[in-house]
Amino acid sequence: MDDQPNLRQFIDEMSSFDEEPAARPVRAAAPELPPIGQVVEIAGSSSQIRMKTETLLEMQQNPDPAVAMSGQVGSQVKMVVGTNWLIANVRTLAAAGDGEVVAEIDFLGEGSRSSNGTMSNFRRGVTRYPIPGSTVLPVSTDDLRSVFAADDSPHVEIGTVYPTDDIRGALYVDPMLSKHFAILGSTGTGKSTSVSLILHRISQLSPEGHIVMIDPHGEYSAAFKSCGELFNVDNLQLPYWLLNFEEHCEVMLTTDGAERQRDADILAKCLLAARTKGKAAESLGKVTVDSPIPYLLTDLNQILVAEMGKLDRAGDTTPYQRLKNKLDELRADPRYTFMFSGMLVSDTMGSFIGKLFRLPAHGKPISIVDVSGVPSEVTSVVVSVLARMVFDYAIWSRTEAQRPILLVCEEAHRYVPKDENSGGQAVRKILERIAKEGRKYGVSLGLITQRPSDLAEGVLSQCGTIISMRLNNDRDQACVRAAMPEGARGFLDAIPALRNRECIVCGEGVAIPIRVRFDDLEPEKRPASSDPSFAASWRETGDEEGIITRTVKRWRGHGR
Ligand SMILES: Nc1ncnc2c1ncn2[C@@H]1O[C@H](COP(=O)(O)OP(=O)(O)OP(=O)(O)O)[C@@H](O)[C@H]1O
Ligand SMILES: [Mg+2]
Repeated sequence: MDDQPNLRQFIDEMSSFDEEPAARPVRAAAPELPPIGQVVEIAGSSSQIRMKTETLLEMQQNPDPAVAMSGQVGSQVKMVVGTNWLIANVRTLAAAGDGEVVAEIDFLGEGSRSSNGTMSNFRRGVTRYPIPGSTVLPVSTDDLRSVFAADDSPHVEIGTVYPTDDIRGALYVDPMLSKHFAILGSTGTGKSTSVSLILHRISQLSPEGHIVMIDPHGEYSAAFKSCGELFNVDNLQLPYWLLNFEEHCEVMLTTDGAERQRDADILAKCLLAARTKGKAAESLGKVTVDSPIPYLLTDLNQILVAEMGKLDRAGDTTPYQRLKNKLDELRADPRYTFMFSGMLVSDTMGSFIGKLFRLPAHGKPISIVDVSGVPSEVTSVVVSVLARMVFDYAIWSRTEAQRPILLVCEEAHRYVPKDENSGGQAVRKILERIAKEGRKYGVSLGLITQRPSDLAEGVLSQCGTIISMRLNNDRDQACVRAAMPEGARGFLDAIPALRNRECIVCGEGVAIPIRVRFDDLEPEKRPASSDPSFAASWRETGDEEGIITRTVKRWRGHGR
């Protein structure tokens, strides 16, 4: 570069041809940081720079951690174009001989450059590109501070930006929620704790929010005692008549193939008759098998018996008998009391929606629905009803003042699996629908999973913001790579090497992709998911008999 003074001068003039002379770029740049290289090629997605290995090694001694990172994959570099600083992210590095390395870079955005070289007003996207030959400079912590300075739009701070230890990383709440988000990471990397942290911060910002969290392991009740309403099988009282026809089928049909179709036809006919018979149906015009109106289980039973009585041959009664047996079983099984109880017949839809969706929130904007006590055969139906209620509420309340709802779903790969033939089609359909259409109706989806490669295709790409913690598995990494925006590719290589509690965030929720270390969450706000200490608990003993007796009792009595 230095041996081509004329070219250098020409480029400087080109880059600033319509700017004032005072903004002559390279010379005004922070003098204490020497250039580390120059631009080689600008070509859409594959722009390249060349850097001097020797200078990069020198930079590693710099006390500023951001400067010391210069040139590494995932780090940032800057260039002058006119009165702007351009910030780019290093995606790949390769040796180029002559003590130089070639790096592919992704442009992240640009900020205004003041006369003393500092950057302000950073924004995403690039309006003017540099010309090959332009000087590349290291990015300092001060530059990063201005890149990450959260603007006035509502945001929550979640941690510190790597490699600095004082710059705060923030998520912009509106873009993050309106386009859905996903939190991914291998087991034990800190997903649940991070979700708690993000939801706590959001609920501090919006104490009158509406968040429904589906908690398959009963972890989150511990975290949201103070700002959440806690539901489990003892107090959920999810009335069976809220189930639509498809969900009824998933609970009540026990056969496959052609037999299942015949059973479903019979169930449809009898269910419609039972729904129509209910008191509530009289005031409504048209009732369908899907209408969420109360009916009596005894009515359904009677209708099944009456229909069976109309048949003349004994052989034809088998499907009726099967349905009736299943219905009797559901009513008698204590594990199903939270859903199939005669007590749940009154029309509680309004109050159910009110308390579940926190309308009004009364300062507790989060509902934690602990489904760990729900019999595993119907967990997916329960999740399906809850998700469908959120979506249907949003659709039917469109003419009212909008109350956007966030639905957070842990272990999402269980409900929207890649394998289309696994059970739980209803839940899969509704979650896929929310992922596709939720934004229009003010429904936001937060998916949490440790196995992104097992998620149905397309669901991840509907998530505008991806928060990825460490992923050990190649297939999972490939999946995230496909879902992440182009500009974040340089960060992806860091995913297998992230430490616990660190994550890469990219997409709508952040100005530019960032690597963040989550704040330490106060113990009382953490989910009950802490790693067991084998070493410590294997030194203790005492009251084994009591522990076993109480455990056996809970086991047999299903927690009651
Ligand atoms: N921000 C944090 N502050 C304090 N502790 C944390 C934080 N993040 C993670 N931890 C600790 O790390 C451990 C594992 O975290 P967590 O249960 O959230 O992982 P996970 O990814 O949800 O695991 P799994 O996939 O098994 O559910 C816990 O002991 C938790 O206390
Ligand atoms: Mg977890």
